[in-house]
Amino acid sequence: MEQTTIVLIVFGFLLPCITSAPTKQQRDVDIYSFHINSTVTSRYAITVITSRVANKISESKEVHFEVKIPKHAFISKFKMTIEGKTYDGVVKQKEEAQQQYSQAVSRGESAGLVSSVGRTLEEFKTSVTVAAFSKVTFELTYEELLKRRLGKYELRINAQPMQPVADFKIDVYINEHPGISFLEVKGGLKSQELSSAVISTLASSTKEAWVKFYPTREQQTNCEGCGENGLNGDLLIEYDVKRPNQNGELQASNGYFVHYFAPTDIQQIPKNVVFIIDRSGSMHGRKIDQTRTAMLKILGDLAQDDYFGLIIFDSEVDVWKAELLQATERNVKQAKDFVKKINDRGATDINAAVLKGVDMIKRYPREGSASILILLTDGDPTSGETNTDRIQENIKKAIGGKFPLYCLGFGFDVNFDFLEKMALKNDGIARRIYEDSDADLQLQGFYEEVATPLLTDVQLNYIGAANLTQTSFRQYYNGSEIVVAGQITDNSLETFQTEVIAISKNTNVTYQDSVSTKDVIDVLPQHENFIQRLWAYLTVKQFLEKEVALKGDEKEAARKKALDLSLKYEFVTSLTSMVVTKPQEEETQVAHKPKEGAEPPTYQHGLAHLPRLRKWRDMVDKKISIIF
Ligand SMILES: *[C@@H]1O[C@H](CO)[C@@H](O)[C@H](O)[C@H]1NC(C)=O
Ligand SMILES: *[C@@H]1O[C@H](CO)[C@@H](O)[C@H](O)[C@H]1NC(C)=O
Ligand SMILES: *[C@@H]1O[C@H](CO)[C@@H](O)[C@H](O)[C@H]1NC(C)=O
Ligand SMILES: *[C@@H]1O[C@H](CO)[C@@H](O)[C@H](O)[C@H]1NC(C)=O
Repeated sequence: MEQTTIVLIVFGFLLPCITSAPTKQQRDVDIYSFHINSTVTSRYAITVITSRVANKISESKEVHFEVKIPKHAFISKFKMTIEGKTYDGVVKQKEEAQQQYSQAVSRGESAGLVSSVGRTLEEFKTSVTVAAFSKVTFELTYEELLKRRLGKYELRINAQPMQPVADFKIDVYINEHPGISFLEVKGGLKSQELSSAVISTLASSTKEAWVKFYPTREQQTNCEGCGENGLNGDLLIEYDVKRPNQNGELQASNGYFVHYFAPTDIQQIPKNVVFIIDRSGSMHGRKIDQTRTAMLKILGDLAQDDYFGLIIFDSEVDVWKAELLQATERNVKQAKDFVKKINDRGATDINAAVLKGVDMIKRYPREGSASILILLTDGDPTSGETNTDRIQENIKKAIGGKFPLYCLGFGFDVNFDFLEKMALKNDGIARRIYEDSDADLQLQGFYEEVATPLLTDVQLNYIGAANLTQTSFRQYYNGSEIVVAGQITDNSLETFQTEVIAISKNTNVTYQDSVSTKDVIDVLPQHENFIQRLWAYLTVKQFLEKEVALKGDEKEAARKKALDLSLKYEFVTSLTSMVVTKPQEEETQVAHKPKEGAEPPTYQHGLAHLPRLRKWRDMVDKKISIIF
């Protein structure tokens, strides 16, 4: 059900390679080994894909390497080994990488650009020319912090080698200190025919788990959805960890710490929730149908002590009831009748609609409740105030940091950047709802994530630490997890202490914990720096998010911090690219990591006026590939 938009822009030379891709070429080129090895240490996953390919014919041949990786992951390493020589990718600032690329183009070399955006995965593509009867090894590494959603973590591994592979293996190793509470393997690759190829093992200590997927060549061609192109699908590994300590899980190593906080022994806080629903003309058809379906289900799931409001808008803003009403059976039934009659019409006045929602929540404040505003729209503001900067200002001022605003963008006609900015400026997040048959389930899924607030105004404090990732959170929901990482600056500390202050249903609560800084964490030696890398990953992500919401000097500062860390830790982010210099002189190509829904960049030929890099002379007989 994955909806995938594939954008293919191919210049000159690469075209024959792409169009001549079918079966015959697969006989010429043999992927004789394909391994995916993923190691998860306390939710931080490092995955290595290794593909070994042989050119079996008596002339040189273009060999492609194409894989899909999770959207929120950062590529951190790429290398190619040809005839015993290894060529490593180098992470550079995007502009610098682009300049190298442009210069190659200005030499009249042809170039290709291939990119793809799916719902959860992103495509990485590159190729190299391999001499007759020679071999090449591609190795790609990516890293991600698994995020807890609805009570579980999900590690998604995609495998699509494009042909059956004699030596095919996926190995996953999970190491969780407090123990794994459940582990489940799902996904298309675990179909009936292939389920015997999956072996998952949970150690008796429950601290470690292994998942092995070793399908035979036979199985790779005979499974459902497989064929002469071999496997094509995802392996989904879902798990959760035990939480014996309500104060959270605290780990420290090599001067860095990470704190996972997800208490469960608390009562739900009643909500004041207002749904602001777009009924403009563009919602016509399936979108409005699915919205109605989702809203009916969501209304049915409200807790008795929740209060709720409904606003529907196009160029006019209508309310179901002028005030928030308690989710009694009778009120919910009336609201459902109202929802069933929502019809599409008119333009989009986001400003007036959201301000109305803010006003409703503010007019009926309730002690000890958690307020939430949820906006669902599928378009740009086209009516009333249409200047997106002014809308953001108006709304930020009206909300005044008192409660979060979540923005759901339906489809690809929305100005998602605007929705994202507005959400991030108001302690919320923006989520895209993909136009697909399961859009109603996506809407319900989002609602479920915020349906059960357990704490509000969560503040996490650490003594003797600096460079902390985000430490205050407006609300904490059941099924999620708060993760904070930082550097321990006070080296004299024997124990490192945490304190969490928050408001729960009827009382203020404080959680305290400490960990010995001398404790040795039991992880693989090559992953002993994972806390530092996790810190860098989270810091970069958060600076990139902040950058979206900031302006002027502050924006520049956030951008610079994100860039510096991306370069230092070699993460391919929206600000950096990876450049691989290959040993051929044929074409230059670019694999671009696109922003979702955005047009891929186009590169102009003939940029001869660009200053030449000094290193250029060394590169003229080489081929470069840039991964954005
Ligand atoms: C997977 O990677 C880990 C750590 O990098 C390594 O120890 C292990 O041997 C690898 N497993 C396989 C099956 O290659
Ligand atoms: C939170 O979720 C867990 C299951 O993930 C459930 O057992 C628990 O009752 C929930 N807590 C509340 C307050 O709803
Ligand atoms: C971390 O914090 C220290 C002290 O506040 C500061 O000097 C240093 O530059 C920071 N490092 C990073 C990577 O931000
Ligand atoms: C919680 O703390 C805040 C300020 O720290 C205070 O204003 C409020 O009255 C406290 N609430 C309860 C229920 O103790």
